[in-house]
Amino acid sequence: MTKKLHIITHGCQMNVADSNLMAAHLQDRGMTLTGSREAADLIILNTCSVRFDAEHKALSLIGALRPLKRAKPGLKIAVAGCAAQRLGKKLNKLFPFVDLVTGAKEIDRIAAVLDREFPPGCRPAPQIKRARLPARAKESGAAAFVTVMRGCENFCSYCIVPHLRGPEASRPAGEVIAEIEANAAAGYKEAVLLGQNVNSYNSGGLDFPGLLARANSVKGLERIRFMTSHPKDLGPGLIRAMAELEKVCGHLHLPLQSGSDAILAAMNRKYTAADYCALAGKLRDSVPGISLTTDILVGFPGETEADFQKTLDLVNRLEFNSLFAFKYSPREGTAAFSLPETATEGEKEERLRRVEEAADRLSRRKNAGLVGTVQHLLVEKTEKGRCTGRTRSNLKVFFAAPGGEKLDGRFADVRITAARINTLGERAEDVFLI
Ligand code: 5AD
Ligand code: SF4
Repeated sequence: MTKKLHIITHGCQMNVADSNLMAAHLQDRGMTLTGSREAADLIILNTCSVRFDAEHKALSLIGALRPLKRAKPGLKIAVAGCAAQRLGKKLNKLFPFVDLVTGAKEIDRIAAVLDREFPPGCRPAPQIKRARLPARAKESGAAAFVTVMRGCENFCSYCIVPHLRGPEASRPAGEVIAEIEANAAAGYKEAVLLGQNVNSYNSGGLDFPGLLARANSVKGLERIRFMTSHPKDLGPGLIRAMAELEKVCGHLHLPLQSGSDAILAAMNRKYTAADYCALAGKLRDSVPGISLTTDILVGFPGETEADFQKTLDLVNRLEFNSLFAFKYSPREGTAAFSLPETATEGEKEERLRRVEEAADRLSRRKNAGLVGTVQHLLVEKTEKGRCTGRTRSNLKVFFAAPGGEKLDGRFADVRITAARINTLGERAEDVFLI
């Protein structure tokens, strides 16, 4: 009997990629994936710690796994990722029924750790050996995540990531390209290159634009995306690569965090609002139609209403295609942790709401401009007669599957008939943008 593995992934795409790595290794060792916690012989919870809420969610979930362990004493439970790295032995104390706590820094050694803790119970299943690709937690059947570098050395003053994931380390270019080639040969049309800070990529002198150029010539691959970029490191080489390499999609996630120079300095972001605007201008000039998305952090210690207003003004002026906004959450061990909080929870909530309202307004307006146009989509999923696809600019589009056909992993040209924010709409014959 093959042993069954269930993986729960919280947090960012890096965690999704790490979960895939663990799944691939354990599948190679003969385990099969299951979507059911009850059916599993091993449950891995891959955790996030970037904000208090994320860590809290992980801890409650571990607690919720206890009855499963009681009901099935042979069940093994492993906790991986950033909360495992941060809490370490404390997790064993809090949850003695957990069999393995393995932090995000151990990911390079994860194969050995998993083998030590969960010795393979059976011979690898031959069909899994051939199709090396793991079932991908949150990815689509069309796009595959490829980690190009790990870690971060920027030490933004609010951020726990550099403390948990450690210093930057680039994967050798040959290894990255081989993985992209294998994915393309297995039918993945899109590669999403991941790193906390992809612009610092360096493999024997090959920089990130150089890596993109090599990826661009992989046969069978049609689209390349990447994240995340730090504005301070984004140079002309990358802008040129985005403009010239036909497979690189015109979408950039470029976290702004704040529009106030005083707050940006306190955050240790090493750029000013003017620097960011100049960069956005260059990107828009060089890569026509580029979609810019961002992260905004509200309520950082010392942020006044005037500082926040600068953020809001910049969001409106730069017309982001979409954004993620977060309330500042103090993380022990970061430089900002010792700074007294100045915004109340109510003020943080209100700033969050205002920035999200502005973002929705901007997206709605941009999306409305697309009604009537034909968009070239890579279809990710077909479910209940409805397809989900993505434009090159990373917009999600829903449309009725022609004749109920499954189009996953194929391209479709679709006329946009309606634009909404975060809604699928009711009428199946319509195409909706979110
Ligand atoms: N509190 C709130 N948001 C945070 N982020 C990082 N650290 C924190 C924190 N302590 C946000 C930043 C980052 C995104 C991934 O998470 O906006 O860009
Ligand atoms: Fe955190 Fe800043 Fe590194 Fe991003 S660049 S992971 S926000 S320290």
